[in-house]
Formats: sequence, C-alpha cells, structure tokens
Amino acid sequence: MKIISNPLALQQHLKNIDKTLGFVPTMGALHEGHIALIKQAKEENELVVVSIFVNPTQFLAGEDLEEYPKKDAADKKICELAGVDILFFPSASELYTQDEVKICAPNVRGYVLEGATRPGHFSGVLTVVMKLLNIVNPTRAYFGKKDAQQLHLISLMVRQFFMRVEIVPVDIVRDSDGLALSSRNIYLSKEQRAQALKIPKSLYTASQLISKNVVDTQEIKAAMHTILSPLKIEYVEILNRDFEVIREVQIGNTVILVEVIVGKTRLLDNIWL
Ligand code: PAJ
Repeated sequence: MKIISNPLALQQHLKNIDKTLGFVPTMGALHEGHIALIKQAKEENELVVVSIFVNPTQFLAGEDLEEYPKKDAADKKICELAGVDILFFPSASELYTQDEVKICAPNVRGYVLEGATRPGHFSGVLTVVMKLLNIVNPTRAYFGKKDAQQLHLISLMVRQFFMRVEIVPVDIVRDSDGLALSSRNIYLSKEQRAQALKIPKSLYTASQLISKNVVDTQEIKAAMHTILSPLKIEYVEILNRDFEVIREVQIGNTVILVEVIVGKTRLLDNIWL
C-alpha cells in the first residue's frame, strides 16, 4: 500500500493510471462501517484509494475537532489488510490555505436536520469532498447511508456541478446489539450505550408499524418519540428520497431519520424503506 500525503503528488501519481478507481473518503478511526465501503470499492474497481483527513471546516466552534479519535497506526493496518492500494493522508495545511473559495450547502436542504443544529457543517463537508474528488478523480466514490443527509447533499453537488464521478451509497453497518457503527461510539459509557439502543429500537418499531399498514408519518413519529424518551432528541423526521417531508410513507421512496444526543455524543441513524 502506498501512503501519500501531498495532494499534488497524489494527482501526479494517478495521472497516467488507466484503471477504474474507487474512492472512500473518511476521517479515520476506521471501523466495520468504513471497511464495508472499502470492500465494495474493491469489488467494483481495479484500484482503491482511501483518504483519512479530519476535516476542520466541517466542525463548528466548540465541537469535538480536538478530541476526534485519532488511530493512525491502526487505520493504516486496517487499510493494508483490506487491500487498499493508496492511502491519502494529507495535513490541513496541504489541503487548505487562507481566504479560500468555498462550496456553500443549499440554503434549505443544508440547514435542516443535522444542518439546523450544525449551521455551516455541510458547507465544510461539501468543500472538502469537492477538493478530495478533484484530487483523486475517481470513477466511483463510496458514502454510507448512515450519514443520509451528507450523502444526499454530495449527490446533489455532483449532479449540479456536472461532475463525472458516480456516487455509490452503501448500507449501514450495525453492531451486534443494533447500534449503527460510528467513530464517535467510543465516547459512550456503558450506561449511555445501553440508552443509545433506543435509537435502533425506535427505527425497528417504525418499520413494524409500517408493515402493519400504518402510513401516517405523524403517528409513526409519535411512536418513535415515545420509545426515544427521555433522550435528547434533535430530530425524528420522515422524508422521501428527495429529502422532502411527507405525510404518508411511500414504500420504496422513504427514509426515516433520527438524531439523538446521548451525554455529549451526537448519534445519527436511519432506515430506508
Ligand atoms: P466518516 O464519519 O469517517 O465516515 C466516512 C464514511 O463512512 C461516510 O461515507 C460514512 O457515511 C460512512 N460510514 C460511517 N459509519 C458507517 C456505518 N455504520 N455504516 C456504513 N457507512 C458508514 O463522513 C465523513 O467521515 C466525513 O464527513 C467525510 C465524508 C470524510 C468528509 O470529511
């Protein structure tokens, strides 16, 4: 596995390679969720590039940028074992300068749900993803459905800026107890983790109601709120695949999203129906 930290060096290295290229952008502290993205990229492409970069512009003041888990040595080993061809490991000063051009998240879809409590977060995500995609110039880039709003906005950016890359959504990977894997789960104490299991439980309950032909989204949301209580709910929302609020579930075109704060940890989960 080749490790490259300089963006121009990586561009140069990839310039004359005539192979299909799968790209998996991450912020490190890799777990089975990230590995699922890498595996799918391996299956569908001749060459796989993974980036590890804790992107400062997507953290708001007072968020966990400084504490964000760093596991460089373990991450390198994981990438090597997963068969990654190139690991891109830039520093902030290699990716950003002063007074830069930025990508702005859309005024509505970038500022609801996670964007409502983290205004500007998605502009930081889109800016770094634009940079990374331009550096790597992949055939396909892989993103988890776990971050459904992020995936939606990146797909919009790629479409609206006429970019050539194919965005591939990958299913959520869960722990054996049902909790969606996240680099931030290590912040949870044992008790908090037990409380966090209300999240997958609420989504399971929603899917059970829907299987009994309950389609009214208010009714489903109310049932989810009851299960999640007394956790701090940031939102429970039921949307179609264009991220518009819907009153009735439409099978094949619905996503149910939850964000809850447990202790100080922000936990996201969702199901696609
Ligand atoms: P990070 O949180 O490290 O996640 C990297 C990718 O892994 C994202 O596409 C995310 O959706 C996916 N992922 C995380 N947990 C997952 C799980 N349990 N199942 C499936 N996929 C999962 O998301 C980011 O980094 C950053 O915002 C980034 C896109 C790299 C831009 O900085």
